[in-house]
Amino acid sequence: MAEQTLMRLDELEEGAAKALVARVDGKQRNIFVVHKDGEVFAYLNWCPHAQDFIDQVPGQFFSGDKKLIRCGKHGALFAIDDGRCVGGPAEGQSLVKLSVGVRDGEIILDA
Ligand code: FES
Repeated sequence: MAEQTLMRLDELEEGAAKALVARVDGKQRNIFVVHKDGEVFAYLNWCPHAQDFIDQVPGQFFSGDKKLIRCGKHGALFAIDDGRCVGGPAEGQSLVKLSVGVRDGEIILDA
């Protein structure tokens, strides 16, 4: 496990998500970070249904009501807080959740 600073929290407004590349288990991986209800969550940007990016349109990670993460490929829906699929073709599967937190105003990934 190694810590890395992803960005400042104030660069990711409440209700927003951002795609970026970070080191996860020693490899460069596409991930995304969500700022929701004052908390920060991070996941691999990789849908378990058909192994593709969640944001088929770059930067678009949410359902229309912004309450769920939505894969742009076939519409699987995932809970923002734990990444479990709650609808659509990835049922029974989950996004890969990453360990992330906020310290001194910075979003820190521990992966
Ligand atoms: S690849 Fe995400 S729903 Fe099919």
